[in-house]
Amino acid sequence: MKFGYFDDVQREYVIERPDTPYPWINYLGNEKFFSLISNTSGGYCFYRDARLMRLTRYRYNSVPTDAGGRYFYLRDGNDVWNPGWAPVKAKPDRYRCRHGLGYTVIESERNQLTARQLSFVPIGADCEVHRVTLKNQSGAVKEIKLFSFVEFCVWNAYDDMTNFQRNFNTGEVEIDGSAIYHKTEYRERRNHYAVFSVNAPIQGYDTDRESFLGLYNGFDRPDAVFNGKPGNSVASGWSPIGSHCLGVTLAPGEEKSYIFVLGYCENPEDQKWEAHGVINKEPARRLLDRFHTDRQVEIAFDELKNYWEGLLSRFCLQSEDPKLDRMVSVWNQYQCMITFNMSRSASYFESGIGRGMGFRDSTQDLLGFVHLIPSRAKARILDIAATQMADGSAYHQYQPLTKRGNMEVGSGFNDDPLWLIFGVTAYLKETGDWSILKESVPFDNDEKKSASLLEHLRRSFGHVLDNLGPHGLPLIGRADWNDCLNLNCFSKKPGESFQTVENRESGVAESVFIAGMLVYIAPSYAEILRRGGLTSEAEVVLKAAKDMEQAVIRYGWDGEWYLRAYDAMGNKVGSRECDEGKLFIEPQGFCAMAGIGMDQGLPERALDSVKEHLDTKYGIVLNWPSYTTYRLNLGEISSYPPGYKENGGIFCHNNPWISIAETMVGHGERAFEVYRKTCPAYLEDISEIHRTEPYVYAQMIAGRDAPRFGEAKNSWLTGTAAWTFYDVSQFILGIRPQFDGLQIDPCVPSALKGFTVTRRFRGADYVIEVRNPDGVEKGIKTMTLDGMLITGNLLPDCSDGKTHRVVAVMG
Ligand code: BGC
Ligand code: NOJ
Repeated sequence: MKFGYFDDVQREYVIERPDTPYPWINYLGNEKFFSLISNTSGGYCFYRDARLMRLTRYRYNSVPTDAGGRYFYLRDGNDVWNPGWAPVKAKPDRYRCRHGLGYTVIESERNQLTARQLSFVPIGADCEVHRVTLKNQSGAVKEIKLFSFVEFCVWNAYDDMTNFQRNFNTGEVEIDGSAIYHKTEYRERRNHYAVFSVNAPIQGYDTDRESFLGLYNGFDRPDAVFNGKPGNSVASGWSPIGSHCLGVTLAPGEEKSYIFVLGYCENPEDQKWEAHGVINKEPARRLLDRFHTDRQVEIAFDELKNYWEGLLSRFCLQSEDPKLDRMVSVWNQYQCMITFNMSRSASYFESGIGRGMGFRDSTQDLLGFVHLIPSRAKARILDIAATQMADGSAYHQYQPLTKRGNMEVGSGFNDDPLWLIFGVTAYLKETGDWSILKESVPFDNDEKKSASLLEHLRRSFGHVLDNLGPHGLPLIGRADWNDCLNLNCFSKKPGESFQTVENRESGVAESVFIAGMLVYIAPSYAEILRRGGLTSEAEVVLKAAKDMEQAVIRYGWDGEWYLRAYDAMGNKVGSRECDEGKLFIEPQGFCAMAGIGMDQGLPERALDSVKEHLDTKYGIVLNWPSYTTYRLNLGEISSYPPGYKENGGIFCHNNPWISIAETMVGHGERAFEVYRKTCPAYLEDISEIHRTEPYVYAQMIAGRDAPRFGEAKNSWLTGTAAWTFYDVSQFILGIRPQFDGLQIDPCVPSALKGFTVTRRFRGADYVIEVRNPDGVEKGIKTMTLDGMLITGNLLPDCSDGKTHRVVAVMG
């Protein structure tokens, strides 16, 4: 069942009814100011850091769901409703929510009054703009009252949810004309405040939540709105809010719009005050002046649209399959931008409090982002590398505001360091900018301990080799990619976090996954060294990879698939000898991608086993059989009921590893099948089962052992976005950046007749037409560049700012 449709021309997903199976959200903002907005206008915003600089309050896991947002209430006669349906939930006669690229439009109608709410964060501004346009479609004059509403958060979102003995005393506001200022804590150590304003005179306002709502009312029944009278309340402690009341008279057919701006402002320390106790409003006035007129808003909105138009012109697909086209050309890349911006911090499943930027997460996110804005990818690489420790290990997470590693989670995830090499390799292949390797980057943010980025990579690689176990395989540490395979933790205490509990390093627990990663990454890393003149070091790296490959073949092959790990007692994990958890997806993906045991046909054998034991109609499950009991020696993975998350869930993130591995052995049909099964646009028709947004990937789909098989959770912030884009763009469509140019190496279902990709690469545009006259799955027979035949399938790096035509014929 569908709840909307893709508007491919506008690049929007259009939701046709407000009661979607779960709130279907969008993200606004690209630089420093970010917002989450649902199809009923729920959500919140923050400046740079969802934990430390939260502007508005949001109630996670609330009843009803999705509580808190920027709400507009319309009081038309005695009838009260919201354009976004929630929170009053008076049924609109017509409703549409259009989630576009960095903006959301909610259009609805009730009793012949139409309302259109356009919400976006303008480029280069630290604010949300909401333009509300009202039109009287009736034959009589309408007297309407329009109330706005936002609830302020006292900045630190964790503190906001916990420390009420203090927070109920600190709240402060100022009101100046139509502008409401939230200045809690400004009197002491903050130099920033929030402003919420409208570009028209108001009849009144409220800034105290209790006065506006009534203590025992919900957002669905605010006293001020239902009585048609604002309280002109001035918050003093308790919960500051911002609400305007506007009187709107509309003649038949008349239309009026109002621009609401919710922004973040900062003052220099010595210019905080205008007068004693009165905040300096200069920055707010400047901000509000920029979005005062419809014309200004339209220009800013066009600028945003052009921005996205420009970004998406860098990779654009035309094929016979509209679902594939819209995912590849629009939505998958859009999600890659969001994961780049947010890492795993703030979504409807991540509270914005617990996790900042992940070392492993953000380095992987680069795979799907680097082609969009390489300069930002570069800055991110340097930020991440600066949180690495001198011994090559890494903080698992860091806060975007401080860019410091988070002590609470600490380090010890032994795959982390390798992802840095992977991310840097992707950057080099995309840009050819070798200068990045010479950048001086601190260890643990300590400028006194700085070294070149190349040295950071060296320590990353070295860290794995310095930490090998009894079989010559990498020690797993706290965990590898699978955060829930905690082989050294033995947690017995209820509620103890598997992520932070003391890690009792056994010196024995080993990861075949990290081994596969090392072998996969080594050739590119060696090539980086070779090109830097470090030939003998490159040899050492290749030798280490060879040894690792041998170790996997000897101790990490289980007969029909790659083993997952050895636990702290040296017992096998992911072996046919195990009673449960016999087979895991991760090593099959990475070891096959790395080609481990290719001569003996191991990758193909492993992929067959995946198909036989792990595949389902909704995607490939992570392990089989799921664990049905808690296991001290395995940790969090066995804490999940069978079929959820890392215990037998369809963990979408590693499905593309299998798809990529299938392309490496030439199975185009199968690679695409794996791609399609988890791809949201192909799941649109079963939205009532899948439940999360049909335009973005979710981290997990419940596996076949779960009662709710096929139900997705944790949409938006997942490495799945980057990995599927990497898979579909570089391995299925086969447009693959290499150090020396763009390789064309598609691997597709034989029925696919061809496709065209427009790709910006190092300053030149390539219009690449792939033809498949013989219906093969892989292989390029001939290739021309601007009409000239070229040998091989590597397009040279033209770097000339021109457009080049490429025809590649498969066969
Ligand atoms: C989840 C993992 C996640 C980890 C990080 C676990 O509870 O299952 O998917 O990576 O938490 O905090
Ligand atoms: C989610 C985390 O963000 C990611 O880093 C991890 O690899 C997966 N969970 C698997 O545990």
